[in-house]
Amino acid sequence: MIIVYESKTGFTKRYAEMLAAKTGMKVYRVNELSKIDKKEEIVFLGWMKVGRIQGLKKVRKFNVKAVCGSGTGRAGEPNAETIISENKLEKIPFFYAQGGCLPLKDLKGTDRFMMSMFAKVLKKRKDKDEKFNEAIEHIENGFDGVKEKNLIPLIEWLNSR
Ligand SMILES: Cc1cc2nc3c(=O)[nH]c(=O)nc-3n(C[C@H](O)[C@H](O)[C@H](O)COP(=O)(O)O)c2cc1C
Repeated sequence: MIIVYESKTGFTKRYAEMLAAKTGMKVYRVNELSKIDKKEEIVFLGWMKVGRIQGLKKVRKFNVKAVCGSGTGRAGEPNAETIISENKLEKIPFFYAQGGCLPLKDLKGTDRFMMSMFAKVLKKRKDKDEKFNEAIEHIENGFDGVKEKNLIPLIEWLNSR
């Protein structure tokens, strides 16, 4: 089995490399798919953008055995069930690992625009609780949630095969 990942700002890349160091599996980026045999079993890690796991479409033609999404929240937003159905993962084990985000000022183009709109929407919510305030703070100032322990469920699944 090998690791394939898609990462824009480097948080998911760190998870892919961490997983490789723990398991000895080789790591490839999605743009290296041409190097991979179609039959090779893949564990795919991708960053999440508006609920969609980036790179997943491209890797689907290959032999994907498990998928791990990385997003800003402590848990996958809005919830695992929605992520599974929106990304058509009903038949593939899905894992989530909290990634991180760059401070808003360091994002560029549409990513920056989308995240600033998202922060604005969150700020306007009347039912704002600790979770929303944390999300706003993370978006505005950046944060790093990459931790080895977030890969434990995926590693346990790999070991159980
Ligand atoms: C435009 C945009 C949309 C995002 N949408 C989501 C989302 O729907 N859910 C989520 O949990 N995180 C979302 N994020 C946060 C990223 O998924 C998160 O920062 C991820 O860890 C980045 O990984 P990377 O550094 O590998 O690119 C979004 C980030 C950007 C810039």
